[in-house]
Amino acid sequence: MLKIVVCVSGGGTNLQAIMDAIDSGKITNTQILAVISNNPGVKALERAEKYGVPGICMSPKSYPDRAAFNEAFTAKMCELAPDLVVLAGFLVKIPEQMVAKFSGRIVNIHPSLIPSFCGVGYYGLKVHEKALQRGVKVTGATVHFVNEGMDEGPIIAQKAVMVEDDDTPETLQRRVMEQAEWILLPQAIDDVANGRLTIVDGHVRRNAKD
Ligand code: GAR
Repeated sequence: MLKIVVCVSGGGTNLQAIMDAIDSGKITNTQILAVISNNPGVKALERAEKYGVPGICMSPKSYPDRAAFNEAFTAKMCELAPDLVVLAGFLVKIPEQMVAKFSGRIVNIHPSLIPSFCGVGYYGLKVHEKALQRGVKVTGATVHFVNEGMDEGPIIAQKAVMVEDDDTPETLQRRVMEQAEWILLPQAIDDVANGRLTIVDGHVRRNAKD
């Protein structure tokens, strides 16, 4: 059984997609140990409570500085000891010491086709604002393993989504979630839970079927 901790910052629709996929059997062999939010009072924590998993709030603002937060956050993760950390709309940079301790065991969903519209400053709605400003006709989402860089780890899967002429950042965000994110992230968790993925020379390979 793959034990996961899901990290969130806001609405938690990706968290909901994971919980729904576990319930419907699209994700198998997986148990959510806890949900960690860096923001108090968010909808994602309500979703966790409704689902019956512990919701933990750890805000960087409650610590004297970022180093103290990073230490406490990493210590909490080590205490929970998940097999996989899932960043489902978590808008905080993962501390280097956590990446080292959970090497190859952290996945993130990003709302663009990496390497477009990613890196520092590209998160949430801002990604879609930038995509519309640039006038791209196709965007999408990417699920990837997390390394020390920002949105730079090995890519697990990507899905393209068409941009429409009358899109606003909000309509585009919704379409990318519906057509890509809520499908890709549960699939990637199921792939990890069932041992389908291997990282070879920094690239994700899908294991050959028996
Ligand atoms: C999602 O679109 C997710 O891809 C994005 O934040 C949103 C969270 O929505 N994540 C990033 O931008 C990470 N760089 P949700 O809370 O409803 O899942």
